[in-house]
Amino acid sequence: MPAQLIGGIGTSHVPAVGAAIDHGRQDEPYWAPYFEKIEPARQWMADKSPDVCLVVYNDHASAFSLELIPTFALGVAAQFAPADEGYGPRQVPAADGHPELAWHLAESLILDHFDMTIVNEMTIDHGCTVPLSVVYGQPEAWPCKLIPLCVNVIQYPAPTGQRCYDLGGAIRRALDSWPGNERVAILGTGGMSHQLQGERAGLINAEFDVAFLDRIVDDPAGQAAVEHHEYLREAGSEGIELVMWMVMRGALDANVREVYRAHHIPTSNTSNGLLVLENADS
Ligand code: DHB
Ligand code: FE
Repeated sequence: MPAQLIGGIGTSHVPAVGAAIDHGRQDEPYWAPYFEKIEPARQWMADKSPDVCLVVYNDHASAFSLELIPTFALGVAAQFAPADEGYGPRQVPAADGHPELAWHLAESLILDHFDMTIVNEMTIDHGCTVPLSVVYGQPEAWPCKLIPLCVNVIQYPAPTGQRCYDLGGAIRRALDSWPGNERVAILGTGGMSHQLQGERAGLINAEFDVAFLDRIVDDPAGQAAVEHHEYLREAGSEGIELVMWMVMRGALDANVREVYRAHHIPTSNTSNGLLVLENADS
């Protein structure tokens, strides 16, 4: 039996969400409405209990400096410690990797024409640890193994939404050819609309975000064709992070079931989205 893709999650990866969890501030008036909304997704993860989480995120110049900018990088290490992003590493567990499955992914993806950078040693920044906190809360140890997949969206040129969507399809082919029977969840992280810099700092576009949520469910091929300038214009300079949700969507079947959706404005500077999808035939 091949690996079983139990579903896909799209989630923002706002560092302040991690700080709110780490400092026990979830019940404060600013945070309580957001944390209430994410509870059903946590319940879904607890029920499904995947063995492996493949987390698609962007490193924010933490593990990789601007000296080296891989477009797609796959972590094959046995363990991933939280990164120090300037204020000490988050006090969350290091994540155990799954080197065997990660190397299978590397081989399958590269032979399938996606030239991944293979990373033997890397730390994981808020782009990865915050989504784990979103879906798992504060366990002593993360209840899954982690395979991190980094996408460059911080230095122009980022890969297109189409390329990310196609990478998702190649990930699915890799999982389908893995002889183990691990239960795998794929997380696409980042977004939704936000801009942290420049004249339009603070930009949020709820209309764009809701349309993105609708379309990634029902018309992923159409959403994949959306070009960078539209994300930038409509969702701000950091809204481009949404292309990483397309990797997650590309790994799923054409027909999916929307299990859960939440949208909360704002957390920090960001329109915060959360989407749980399962293959319709599962
Ligand atoms: C914020 C959001 C991000 O995606 C990020 O990487 C850093 C900061 C924010 O909203 O503060
Ligand atoms: Fe980010």
